[in-house]
Amino acid sequence: MFDFRPKVQVTIEQTGECYPCAVGESLLKGMLRLGRKGIPVGCVNGGCGVCKVRILQGKTEVLGPVSRAHVTESEEAQGYTLACRVGPTCEVKLEVAGKMIKPFSKGFPGQATPPAITK
Ligand code: FES
Repeated sequence: MFDFRPKVQVTIEQTGECYPCAVGESLLKGMLRLGRKGIPVGCVNGGCGVCKVRILQGKTEVLGPVSRAHVTESEEAQGYTLACRVGPTCEVKLEVAGKMIKPFSKGFPGQATPPAITK
């Protein structure tokens, strides 16, 4: 079924990837349409913390409670939140954090790559 909700662009800082996300839709749900392997999807209700991101630009709306065990008040003040619990209200630029970094570190040389393995 076609989604008629207005969409805004979400940009991932580390890779430069963009995806459309509907107003009222979670950042995580929109992100999954990128088709990138390994994007962590856990509880999808703000409880497990695997979808941690930091909002760098733009505004989001809270879609549900975020576990304080995974996003402290201090982190929240710095823009951290859980992608499954917030949706964009305008264009958003975000940075993936925590367990979200690994799947975004592949395929983009020079961008968020893990350190080289040495013997
Ligand atoms: S998927 Fe569990 S907190 Fe977002």
